[in-house]
Amino acid sequence: MTAQPTALPTLHREEPMDPDKPFIRVENLTKVFHPGKNRRMLGLLPPKSGQKGFVAVDDVSFEVERGQIFVIMGLSGSGKSTIIRMVNRLIDASDGTISVDGKDVRSLAPAALRDYRNRTINMVFQHFGLFPHKSLVDNVAFGLKVRGVDKEAREAKAAEALAIVGLGDRIHAMPDQLSGGMKQRVGLARALATDAEILLMDEPFSALDPLIRKDMQELLIKLQQNFKKTIIFVTHDLNEAMYLGDKIMVMKQGKNIQCGTALDLLEAPADPYIEDFVAEVDRSRVLTAGMIARPTASHSSPPETGGFGSGSSRVPEGTVLHDLLPILATGSQPVEVTDQDGTIVGKITAEDVFSALSPSKRNSNNAA
Ligand SMILES: Nc1ncnc2c1ncn2[C@@H]1O[C@H](COP(=O)(O)OP(=O)(O)O)[C@@H](O)[C@H]1O
Ligand SMILES: [Mg+2]
Repeated sequence: MTAQPTALPTLHREEPMDPDKPFIRVENLTKVFHPGKNRRMLGLLPPKSGQKGFVAVDDVSFEVERGQIFVIMGLSGSGKSTIIRMVNRLIDASDGTISVDGKDVRSLAPAALRDYRNRTINMVFQHFGLFPHKSLVDNVAFGLKVRGVDKEAREAKAAEALAIVGLGDRIHAMPDQLSGGMKQRVGLARALATDAEILLMDEPFSALDPLIRKDMQELLIKLQQNFKKTIIFVTHDLNEAMYLGDKIMVMKQGKNIQCGTALDLLEAPADPYIEDFVAEVDRSRVLTAGMIARPTASHSSPPETGGFGSGSSRVPEGTVLHDLLPILATGSQPVEVTDQDGTIVGKITAEDVFSALSPSKRNSNNAA
């Protein structure tokens, strides 16, 4: 008898991952579409040799750390969805590697691939269709039920997610009792309450009207603080990209033309195309206190004089500069910036804010 081949790797995490390795690593990813290939295979078109095909994704590399929101931004047709589909293996890559938690996604055998799709990643589509005959809590808990999570645990998680999106007192309501915007909230709560570690979100908010869209962006950040997923989020809207993204990869004609933080793109756009994009951005509503704060912990000698720390205002790190300005205007002290646990992570002066808001001025706060 032939020896059993060694078991193919699954994406179950039996051992802790190497903390030095990025959670998702994509290298030299390429997709070439061959128009007419299917019809040719069916004999409807004559065979054609030497056909070049259309390069939809061209040698793209990027890394996503666990817990990050990684945004893929670019105009329609730039290859964003094709990347997402390759990560999900809905389509096969033509070249390159995709590794998730150290496992090679492109070589997953059918059983391991099923496992990957069921447990590791969750694809979120534009229309958060709800089950009309299920209550909100059952809607949100549905994904967990499918994955075999017991009733008590899944309902607790669903209730938690619904509370975050402001529907904690209506968990037994039925979808038809909700407005359109509220249904969207339930859909978002459901997406974040699954036990998949990775969410792939392909323009989930693009069809929404601006107010609901803003609401959803804020809720996504709130849910993310609680559920800490690793999210690849696709958008063609740079404001959305900058608001949501810990890192943003800008795509143009299949290529990754810049990958960095919102601040990186604003301060050192790598391409005239990105310059044009960022010229349109309202910096005061995109840059946050957390992005420009000077870290206090790493500062060797915090100035004790001037009473910093006693009478200063504090703002959460997600506060946009637009909301920070009036606070700075009322006091002479730097403002302290806190993380979600209330720990002070840095401070900001009015000068820091003006410097960040001015397009030509380079800001050296930007830790690598
Ligand atoms: N199945 C396919 N066959 C041929 N061309 C495709 C296919 N899917 C996408 N494309 C082309 O690849 C390019 C990138 O598409 P896509 O990834 O959907 O762009 P985006 O999501 O950025 O709008 C587009 O020009 C699109 O027409
Ligand atoms: Mg797309």
